[in-house]
Amino acid sequence: MLLLRQCRSLTRVGPLTTQRHLRAALPAASCGVRSCSGGSEEPSSRDAPPHSRWRYGLAGLLVGAGAVVAYGLHYNKAERAATTTVQTIAQDSSVRIFTQEEVTRHRSLEDRVWVTYKGSVYDITDFVSMHPGGDKILLAAGGALEPFWALYAVHSQNHVLDILSEYKVGELSAADRQRQQTVKTSDPYSSDPERHPGLRVNSLKPFNAEPPLQLLNDNYITPSAIFFKRNHLPVPRLDPASYRLHVEGLPRGALTLSLDELKTKFPKHTVTATLQCAGNRRSEMNQVKQVKGLNWGIAAISNATWSGARLRDVLLAAGYAPDVARWARHVQFEGLDKDVTGTTYGASIPLNKAVSEEGDVLLAYEMNGEDLPPDHGFPVRVVVPGTVGARNVKWLGKIVVSAEESGSHWQQNDYKGFSPGTDWDTVDFKSAPAIQELPVQSAITQPAEGAELDRSAEEVTVKGYAWSGGGREVVRVDVSLDGGKTWQVAELQSDERDQAPAPPPPPGRAWAWKLWELTSALPPDAQELEIVCKAVDDSYNMQPDSVPPIWNLRGVLSNAWHRVKVTIREE
Ligand code: MTE
Repeated sequence: MLLLRQCRSLTRVGPLTTQRHLRAALPAASCGVRSCSGGSEEPSSRDAPPHSRWRYGLAGLLVGAGAVVAYGLHYNKAERAATTTVQTIAQDSSVRIFTQEEVTRHRSLEDRVWVTYKGSVYDITDFVSMHPGGDKILLAAGGALEPFWALYAVHSQNHVLDILSEYKVGELSAADRQRQQTVKTSDPYSSDPERHPGLRVNSLKPFNAEPPLQLLNDNYITPSAIFFKRNHLPVPRLDPASYRLHVEGLPRGALTLSLDELKTKFPKHTVTATLQCAGNRRSEMNQVKQVKGLNWGIAAISNATWSGARLRDVLLAAGYAPDVARWARHVQFEGLDKDVTGTTYGASIPLNKAVSEEGDVLLAYEMNGEDLPPDHGFPVRVVVPGTVGARNVKWLGKIVVSAEESGSHWQQNDYKGFSPGTDWDTVDFKSAPAIQELPVQSAITQPAEGAELDRSAEEVTVKGYAWSGGGREVVRVDVSLDGGKTWQVAELQSDERDQAPAPPPPPGRAWAWKLWELTSALPPDAQELEIVCKAVDDSYNMQPDSVPPIWNLRGVLSNAWHRVKVTIREE
């Protein structure tokens, strides 16, 4: 009884409404009992009264699982709770104040699951424990809910905030709220933008991160906030009013464009295209033998809708004509991000890709219908569909039509593939071409490596993505549950589930990935599954079956069959 009371005091502030209809299904919680709420059985969602059904909705909403939701537009209980924070603290000394550090300690069902919302602290353990999609909810544990809700801000759900208000346990300390706004100005990365807390960070400075796997297949178009981020240098903060793009190397002389001119003088063109880093899935090469580079998992890849002027149109306006192709071979791009010596990021692509009507190369100023976010190249970046991420230069300052490739480090001495037998003593970067179009790729996003499947579920759903470079369309994804002995064909998804099917891309212009899914019966006798996937593109290119034959010292072009091992828990 004492334990229960201590527990109740943890989960309540003042006269909060009861949590009596929550199921007592918590694993051992910090208060030492199976459930702090001690409530009765939760009715099934089908039988539940509408208010209870919203509790299931909240689970999705917390991190955007599936469809829904967002900030309530109405002035509901949680909003009131949040906006009156300051007065409450001043007037009511019984309100518990927590530091961010204390909140961060509550990131699992064992340690309890706490989140903050507009300065208030909520203990949502009881809610999470009864919801099957708990792995997604836990992405927000120990931190703020706002970024997760902002991802899916499509509906107003004041019920959701009403429910949240029942779980309030206190307020975040004023110092911690203040701290979130404080930056250290001596740090070259101090003006880097805020990032979504759900991202899996590979390096903070420069910032490199991939989307959480649990969310990758939820959206055909990856929300910008969780789109993978690959920066070599600090993010430059550019003023759109004084921004200028310089186009050089054409006989007519230099052309300079303001952002406004780029937007108004050229037709706006929109392309849905997947970007993939050359180092995607590098960690699997590391497991074979150490390579150099960030240890990317399987999500250095994302899909977005990009809008801007066609590079072809801008080059034509700058004086490009077919005779230029007699001497020019490349189009170089220079970014406005600089290292301490003033060296900027740069790359180039073949001239024929740049000027081809079917190449769809953009000088993009919008991503997913909004201005480019700072991390993705605001105000203008190049989007080279079908081509390795490295050539999609962000914060674009200069374009040069040239007989030569870009002289930049990233074009000449990086992002190239070598034999597994080549090591750092023997490598000659001049001997290999710069990576442009990427090979066919696929990976499994669900279930996660090491997951435990429930035998009583009788079936398993496997999900993932597939994509190929150069506009080659993925035509099939094969999935095996037994390490590659037998195979089934997955269902392919080429657009958002809730929208009318998009027409198939013109041949050679399949720039966007396919998400895929397969539901299959659990093999009756297996206690362990080795799930494998491999994709096939429309040139019948297929992924190699293992990593060692494609291992290379930089860990690029890692596209072997993807394998995930899971166990089956018997009842
Ligand atoms: N452009 C500039 N100016 N600076 C960079 O560091 N990184 C490149 C490319 N363009 C980079 C850049 C690399 S290696 C990749 S994979 C993509 O941007 C990543 O784009 P994203 O961060 O929008 O996902």
